[in-house]
Amino acid sequence: MTRPVILITRRLPDAVLDRAAADYEVIVNYDDCAFPTDQIIDMSPHVDGIIACYTERFSADVVAALDPRVKIVANYAVGTDHCDLAAFTARGIAVTNTPDILSDATAETAMLLLLGAARRAVEGDRMVRTGRWDDWSPSFMVGKQVTGGRLGIVGMGRIGQAMARNARGFGMEVHYHNRRRLSQDLEQGAIFHDRLDALLAVADFLSLHCPATPQTQGMMTAEKFSKLPEGAVFVNTARGSLVDEAALIGAIESGRLAAAGLDCFVDEPGGNPDFASYDRIFMLPHIGSATVKTRDAMGFRALDNLDAFFAGKTPRDLV
Ligand code: GLV
Repeated sequence: MTRPVILITRRLPDAVLDRAAADYEVIVNYDDCAFPTDQIIDMSPHVDGIIACYTERFSADVVAALDPRVKIVANYAVGTDHCDLAAFTARGIAVTNTPDILSDATAETAMLLLLGAARRAVEGDRMVRTGRWDDWSPSFMVGKQVTGGRLGIVGMGRIGQAMARNARGFGMEVHYHNRRRLSQDLEQGAIFHDRLDALLAVADFLSLHCPATPQTQGMMTAEKFSKLPEGAVFVNTARGSLVDEAALIGAIESGRLAAAGLDCFVDEPGGNPDFASYDRIFMLPHIGSATVKTRDAMGFRALDNLDAFFAGKTPRDLV
């Protein structure tokens, strides 16, 4: 029997590529540059499936132009906002993602950002690195204490729950807003708020863990930032499109936000150059899931989904 041909749009970890090559005919973008969508379209008559990353944008036009030979796009990502899902459904092309396995790595990144923002990591690092650390005083580099603080989590799915576990390790009081209240065993004492505004009012620290959808797009407006307690710390490891970035700068300027920690930006790659002059914004280049363990697991999960699909079963992570 001929083996399915899979296009792999970025250079995945070696162990993942080895397994892919053992089971499929693979075409791999070994150059590892962002793969232009017109090239994906050009190659589509030659492939049965695609392993794609969030760097490839599958707009309705791109999906419409894919050759009928393509039957599945197995994403190497949990978020699927780079895919027009309605267009995929209309074409009968299956789409999968990689949930669960990246929750801990992403929540680690959120905690890193929360701590780094609260304790002024950007300023401190730069000061020592540039040889400008020449004094100490009781008021020197004073930040906001995380231990025992109140954390608000927006989106209490797998990653939000992992963040809550991290926060409990710091003795934080966890509050959350979610479409549905969790069962008590999943809540683990976290306090549910059925309205976002009610959560914002108590969130001395706020961390976003919800997907980007038409409903959540731009949800952190100037009005929402103004509902936070004075001197709050804001963290985003979810998606940049959830945030009005000009409003975020306004909240930093006014002191409503003491600091922010961001792994996601409206424009990626690159981020927002307007943030660069604010030491109180601690930034990372969208590396939430970037650990060896997690990146391997994401690849294996994408392959599990392909294996199920080509065996005629429903893939575990069909979205
Ligand atoms: C990364 O942002 C992902 O969605 O996996």
